[in-house]
Amino acid sequence: MGAAAAAMDQTEQAADAVYRLTNVSKTYGRNGVVAVKDVSISLPRGSFSSVIGSSGCGKSTLLKMMAGLIPPSKGSIILQGEPVLGARRDIGMMFQHATLFPWRTTIENIVLPIEISDGRKAAEAAKGRGLELLDLVGLNGFADAYPSQLSGGMAQRASICRMLITEPAVLLLDEPFSAVDELTRDFMNMELQRICTSRGATAFLVTHSIPEAVILSDTVYVMAPRPGRVAEVVHIDLPRPRTLDMILTPQFAEIVQRIRARLDEGGEQ
Ligand SMILES: Nc1ncnc2c1ncn2[C@@H]1O[C@H](COP(=O)(O)OP(=O)(O)O)[C@@H](O)[C@H]1O
Ligand SMILES: [Mg+2]
Repeated sequence: MGAAAAAMDQTEQAADAVYRLTNVSKTYGRNGVVAVKDVSISLPRGSFSSVIGSSGCGKSTLLKMMAGLIPPSKGSIILQGEPVLGARRDIGMMFQHATLFPWRTTIENIVLPIEISDGRKAAEAAKGRGLELLDLVGLNGFADAYPSQLSGGMAQRASICRMLITEPAVLLLDEPFSAVDELTRDFMNMELQRICTSRGATAFLVTHSIPEAVILSDTVYVMAPRPGRVAEVVHIDLPRPRTLDMILTPQFAEIVQRIRARLDEGGEQ
């Protein structure tokens, strides 16, 4: 893409940006670590973006700021025209480990966000929608099971339902499938793509895996450490819907190689 085309691309993206981060930095007070420095990105509506980088380069910090869980030290984070100042209903989040409550059944876990925001009655009324979501992720019949009766992959799928129950506009995913086995992970990633497409959701995924970032994303942000910053923005032109066999194409290998080279450079600094 030429410079003019790239500039136009950015302008167009900015026009319909769901998230807009401008010069976002985070310094942790206790030790003065600059975890994130001057990150400016915008996420177009319905897009899938990933952030990749070595351990400790500020990925989780960035996501937590976007979720409103911690404030940035500098810069602004705007979601759907409103600054992010705390937890919000239009933000769905998912973490590495399924954080289901063991004393609640699967369906009770799924409607928990509704219970917290709107009370027990509303949560009860939302159970029908919860069952539809369980269907969507292939967990039909597990509504009344307890988390201890679910496999790791199943628990993560239940977490997806819990994230979707409030119908968030954006999904923030912090290494959501890194604790499940590789086959399950491939399957879950394809499911994630399907869910995002069918709901028009805007997704932002933190991952350690270059192939995972490439297969899912329209844009991959490569972060470099100390201080955590965006070192390169890679647009992924593979056609949609993405399929797992694309991993075997030369085009895929080339993109993976390019990102790997950038990560290696970042690590040396
Ligand atoms: N609550 C905290 N207090 C102080 N330092 C932190 C805190 N959380 C993270 N850090 C530091 O900030 C840097 C980035 O951490 P993090 O965002 O967790 O990176 P990543 O998710 O990419 O592994 C690291 O150096 C980490 O030690
Ligand atoms: Mg992290």
